[in-house]
Amino acid sequence: MVGYAFMGAAHSQAWRTVNRVYDLPARVRMSLVCGRDTAKVADAADRLGWEAHTTDWRRLVESDEIDVVDICTPGDSHAEIALAALAAGKHVLCEKPLANTVAEARAMAAAAATARASGVRSMCGFNYRRVPAVAMMRRLIAEGRLGTIRHVRAAYLQDWIVDPQFPLVWRLQRDRAGSGALGDIGAHIIDLTQFVTGQRITGVSAVTETFVKERPLPAESSGLAAQAAGNGAVDGHGPATGTVTVDDAAVFVARLDGGALATYEASRFATGRKNALRVEINGSLGTLAFDLERLNELEFYDATRPAAEQGFTRILMTEEDHPYMSAWWPPGHIIGYEHSFTHQMRDFVEAVATGADPAPSFTDGLQVQLVLDAVTRSAELDSTWTDVEPTLEAVPA
Ligand SMILES: NC(=O)c1ccc[n+]([C@@H]2O[C@H](COP(=O)([O-])OP(=O)(O)OC[C@H]3O[C@@H](n4cnc5c(N)ncnc54)[C@H](O)[C@@H]3O)[C@@H](O)[C@H]2O)c1
Repeated sequence: MVGYAFMGAAHSQAWRTVNRVYDLPARVRMSLVCGRDTAKVADAADRLGWEAHTTDWRRLVESDEIDVVDICTPGDSHAEIALAALAAGKHVLCEKPLANTVAEARAMAAAAATARASGVRSMCGFNYRRVPAVAMMRRLIAEGRLGTIRHVRAAYLQDWIVDPQFPLVWRLQRDRAGSGALGDIGAHIIDLTQFVTGQRITGVSAVTETFVKERPLPAESSGLAAQAAGNGAVDGHGPATGTVTVDDAAVFVARLDGGALATYEASRFATGRKNALRVEINGSLGTLAFDLERLNELEFYDATRPAAEQGFTRILMTEEDHPYMSAWWPPGHIIGYEHSFTHQMRDFVEAVATGADPAPSFTDGLQVQLVLDAVTRSAELDSTWTDVEPTLEAVPA
């Protein structure tokens, strides 16, 4: 695994847990973790349960002992590490967004397609697909329970940079993160809504804004370690300031290829909203609604029921036949955020061990990147309607 901070900790938890919860055809060994600072990566290896540590990610790629490379670094290093790992025959799990640019994402998808021909698998880490309520939404929509999908309404709202004194961490720098709220949290709702509806976004009209354009530089602005906790939170900042080069918020309307109209909102300025990922899908036969802050619940309005009985049903997603739940606790015993990563590792390990293709693929990651790119271009052109480019997938079936 490369990177050991927020996602590194979440992934480690899942790697540690997955074989204890699910009966899988392979056992995970947590061999080698990479970071840039020797003392800190040594501490992380100890704390997170890795056998060894290194400060050079190339050691993971070159080691004969290693089958899987898990990329948990900021987007500016995804492409380089993934391309090297795939070329060396390693299966790759890469955090979202797949890359910082469409060009990088295209190169990664092409490399994944080539590697796949020799049995090498790759997957992009859109973990929210693995929240049981989200997987259940997809199941119900695929079964036709919502009829024709008319509306998709999605928002991912956070507030961690409302304070103008919050420092200029890597997530606020285009060369490190690719984009701001758009690529960080907007990417999640793009993937999630396309996943549950089975429809692709074909075009967008967007506005983006950077509300706070200058921010103090982090106290250790040159040190990645200073940005290594959570959303890049740091202990303090110095007197110097720097320019924010990403969006603070992105709002766009979209058309989906099945005929639905959609609205998307991604913001780090939604005061009071910490991690509010909310999705509502309206169909001709019903509505589904999900809120990540109540992730064990799914709201379902079934318009086929007798009029006198209609109303929103709150389904508690803890039944054995709910997606992923058979391995957890008795009905009513809820799960949390980290479980989505355990589910992600389950699906990834199973696919690798059985020679199947895990999803979302790097091509799916590229498709999300193309939507992000269309949003950015539309916003730059005063919200001009902008079609999403096709992935031009050169993948052998
Ligand atoms: N799936 C999700 O819900 C989710 C949530 C948060 C972040 N992410 C994604 O995960 C990735 C990492 O984000 P994070 O929040 O964990 O960031 P973070 O700042 O908490 O951690 C980044 C880690 O990468 C390490 N690192 C950076 N460059 C490196 C290099 N060249 N070699 C070795 N290590 C390097 C840092 O030392 C640090 O350990 C990003 O792509 C982000 O978009 C996904």
